[in-house]
Amino acid sequence: MKVLIVGSGGREHALAWKAKLSQLVDGVYVAPGNGGTANEAGVTNVEIAADDIDGLTNFAQVNEIDLTIVGPEVPLVEGITDKFESLNLNCFGPSKKAAQLEGSKEFMKDFLTRHEIPTAIYESFTDLETALEYLKNSSIPIVIKADGLAAGKGVTVAQSYSEAEKAIRACLENNTFGDAGNKVVVEEFLEGEEASFIVLTDGKTVLPLASSQDHKTRDNEDKGPNTGGMGAYSPAPVVTNEMHEKIMREVITPTIEGLTKEGINYCGFLYAGVMIDNQQNIKVLEFNCRFGDPETQPILMRLESDLVELCFQASKRELQQIELQWNPKVSLGVVMAAGGYPYEYEKGNTIEGLPLETANLKVFHAGTKAKNDLIETNGGRVLCVTALGKNTTEAQLNAYNCVEQIKWKDCFYRTDIGYRAIERES
Ligand code: AMP
Ligand code: GLY
Repeated sequence: MKVLIVGSGGREHALAWKAKLSQLVDGVYVAPGNGGTANEAGVTNVEIAADDIDGLTNFAQVNEIDLTIVGPEVPLVEGITDKFESLNLNCFGPSKKAAQLEGSKEFMKDFLTRHEIPTAIYESFTDLETALEYLKNSSIPIVIKADGLAAGKGVTVAQSYSEAEKAIRACLENNTFGDAGNKVVVEEFLEGEEASFIVLTDGKTVLPLASSQDHKTRDNEDKGPNTGGMGAYSPAPVVTNEMHEKIMREVITPTIEGLTKEGINYCGFLYAGVMIDNQQNIKVLEFNCRFGDPETQPILMRLESDLVELCFQASKRELQQIELQWNPKVSLGVVMAAGGYPYEYEKGNTIEGLPLETANLKVFHAGTKAKNDLIETNGGRVLCVTALGKNTTEAQLNAYNCVEQIKWKDCFYRTDIGYRAIERES
């Protein structure tokens, strides 16, 4: 089978690496891929952008690709799956309609409300004055979200009225996020611990993946600006067996059923970001219509089942209810980023000290480029160093031992990935 992975991040490197391990697969292509996928045995980069839908369908037809797996949200929200399916090409990822769960915060929040799925209280606005009036009557902290896709940068957890006002003005007055910010959702601040709960589904059968937790902010102790994610680990101890059942019952099942009732078939990865409070109540923070990045990296390090087989079955709406097989070890990934990220940063710096990989250690590339025999930085999040260990403490130690050997100009990373799980272990 020939598999095409769409995207160029750490998630796509992990998907390509895992696809290559499948018994069913004899060729893996990544469009456009990165420096890591360029050097991965059995994997070939193809110079087609992830949002060049016509370029991708054309490649899939000419090269007789049996299955395309879409990594990032942008092509999904733009309807890549609809286009592939209209040409009878197997594509694993939700349709344009289904991808609105991520593509529009307002759609997502209204959907949750219609189906009585727990989420923070919210209001959405297109008019600046009305939004500012609502803000005046709200309490602080408060959360401001651009409605559309903003590459993980459209959410502000405001600690003051002035910060909240600035975030609202950025969207509705200054057009900082373009059309994505023409509407804002103003939302109650939730306290608790977050978890990423990701399932693989064909819209009928749902296979929950191992739980994980991501560190979304740039700095240690979950401080600083939001980023795409600075590190993640799996499993997340906050998702106990009871919590797993509760999330399935209160969030995942009603979501898939609600979509079906509304005539929407959801086939793909569905990612629910949930907040769990002290009383073990859960509320949905967000849906993503794709696998998480960096959650994919630690999760796929642990997955022993054949990912390609599952995605292929699902793309044909023939997913079987099976028990997924997991490595019992803990997996933990540390993101190494370019200095300045999530704002301005340099590209083109040579990376040194990349290790020999082992069964317990894998460096997934994100913003990198292979140039001659060297690897250069080519993005904000550059690498995700992922290690296994018998517990989170050991996985963290193994990951940071490797991180400390890798160097480039102005590289930075958090030094506390996994701290919540480690606190529980000690
Ligand atoms: P989102 O893209 O909606 O997940 O938001 C990004 C991050 O902002 C989340 O992972 C949370 O850490 C934080 N966040 C979003 N909504 C809320 C909320 N209502 N209360 C507290 N934190 C939030
Ligand atoms: N790690 C968060 C995300 O993928 O959106």
